[in-house]
Amino acid sequence: MSIANAKEMMVKALEGKYAVGAFNVTDLLQFEAVIDAAIETKSPVIVQTSVKPSQFLGTDMMVAIYRTLAEKAPVPVCLHLDHCTDIDYCNKCADAGYTNIMIDASKQSYEENIRQTKAVVDYVHSVGNASVEGELGTVGGVEDQIKVAEDEAQLANPEQSVEFVQRTGVDIFAPAIGTAHGVYKTKNPKIDTERMATINKLLNGNGIKTPLVVHGGTGLPEETIKKLLAAGGAKFNVSTELKRVLIDAKWEYISAHRDEYDPGKLDKFVRDATRKAVIHWMQMIESVGHA
Ligand code: 13P
Repeated sequence: MSIANAKEMMVKALEGKYAVGAFNVTDLLQFEAVIDAAIETKSPVIVQTSVKPSQFLGTDMMVAIYRTLAEKAPVPVCLHLDHCTDIDYCNKCADAGYTNIMIDASKQSYEENIRQTKAVVDYVHSVGNASVEGELGTVGGVEDQIKVAEDEAQLANPEQSVEFVQRTGVDIFAPAIGTAHGVYKTKNPKIDTERMATINKLLNGNGIKTPLVVHGGTGLPEETIKKLLAAGGAKFNVSTELKRVLIDAKWEYISAHRDEYDPGKLDKFVRDATRKAVIHWMQMIESVGHA
């Protein structure tokens, strides 16, 4: 039985100086490939669904897939709802069996963000073994239904971050530090790793209480990933890269086998390509061997 919530995994990760990979999936094939990679590398792993894929398959189907795969995997697996702006849907996913819920009220005013985040924390904690992620400041780019122009993205203030965590009771916290969803426009995006380290020290300097999340993993240079790891990043989110691998691998296989009509072979090729991309991330964030 390998059902786990995100906070418990991330506390262990911070103690062990590694991070947990959190990979957005849209279908069964990606779900299986992410777990294949976790088993192969003995890594804890977080499988994430954005709101649209979760609604498309339905929460019960998502959780059934999760439980079926996680229960036979010899590594801890968390199912996370990513960037949900709707309190009722957050609560519905907690009821269905997701083990980490992200309420994203970061586009609201500070007080409204606290109100909505706290409402989800209170509900989810009453349901059972699930943790809650909140966000302060805004992450640029596009993720599912959320769009933020990069020049409108606002970084999280360290003192306000502490107040936000205390007043909401979130289990894990995503401070905006300059990362963006999607593909970075420059080779060396400006990421405020010092801000991340300051927030981590304020929150976790006297014992680990609220581990930090890094959004916008796709395209981050490996050097920046290492700096963020050292600064306390305990969960790295990767979405766009896996979408690209999925579509590109399908295209590559179909182009090379235009007269073959064997979906099993196509799926195997795509699952392998996805597994390899996930393993690369697990190596970079040093989760290998920690499950
Ligand atoms: P990317 O799409 O840039 O990898 O970001 C993923 C993410 O942060 C999901 O929450």
